[in-house]
Amino acid sequence: MQDELHTRERLSAIGHAMASVGHCMKNMLTGLKGGVFLLERTMEDTKDSRLSDAHLLLSRSTSRINLLLLNMLDLSRERRAGAVLTSVQGILDETVQVIRAGLAVERENGKEVEIQARLDPAIPMVRLDPERLYRALLNLGLNATDAMPSGGRLLFETRGTSAQEVEASLTGGFDAPDSTLDPAWRFVVMRGSQLSSVRHLRIDIRDNGTGIDPENLQQLFRPFFSTKSSKGTGLGLAAVCQFVTEHDGHILVLSALNHGTRFTLFLPESSE
Ligand SMILES: Nc1ncnc2c1ncn2[C@@H]1O[C@H](COP(=O)(O)OP(=O)(O)OP(=O)(O)O)[C@@H](O)[C@H]1O
Ligand SMILES: [Mg+2]
Repeated sequence: MQDELHTRERLSAIGHAMASVGHCMKNMLTGLKGGVFLLERTMEDTKDSRLSDAHLLLSRSTSRINLLLLNMLDLSRERRAGAVLTSVQGILDETVQVIRAGLAVERENGKEVEIQARLDPAIPMVRLDPERLYRALLNLGLNATDAMPSGGRLLFETRGTSAQEVEASLTGGFDAPDSTLDPAWRFVVMRGSQLSSVRHLRIDIRDNGTGIDPENLQQLFRPFFSTKSSKGTGLGLAAVCQFVTEHDGHILVLSALNHGTRFTLFLPESSE
């Protein structure tokens, strides 16, 4: 009881700190984005390749800082969800575009990541904050590319699924991508609420990267859990988890060391 109270106080203090640091970062980011914009204007008049290299580096770092800031504000609950009826298609297209653009630097260094998006045209509409869905997909997509240091394949796939299928996936876990018999695949589930009877939107984000150490699977969604030392803050998955469970959705993670990882989000379909 005492421990629980202590943890809650600590998280609340971290929340306040994140909110105030976040506001400072917002101002700094405005300056950075202005710099990127000026650079873009200058690039229109000159062909110097150093300028486009500088632009790539600056815009990539700026968008990573932007994502970190928004993850922090989401987790500190400074921002409230504005739920609207949303179709996932445009959000997914934008996510793929942004990840592709961010990989341009790696491509020059010989790292090739093939990104594909498979969309079922009959996917259900969901009621949620489109910006937060975009950030969730971006967090998951960037994690996947981080997990493929020498390149690989990243696949986003969406379709509708029945409540029974959701329950079967969450309890069995095992519709593993490559082989359902391979004992190397482990899974972990985050449940948002009791399962409702409605259809769900299912989004799979799959990579063939390093996979996740089974010892780390249970800790993935804990704020500040990261294996990336100074390159990661460990807030991405915590923000994804908060977003999905707040919308009564569920997450299934399947992973095998040296094979890859699949994150599956289930979001309940909206009736209107
Ligand atoms: N697709 C993946 N493949 C392998 N490991 C993963 C994958 N996705 C997440 N992880 C593991 O989960 C950890 C937590 O991810 P999370 O996105 O919360 O933090 P992060 O990426 O380290 O930092 P950031 O706050 O910048 O996102 C990662 O450090 C990594 O160890
Ligand atoms: Mg991350």
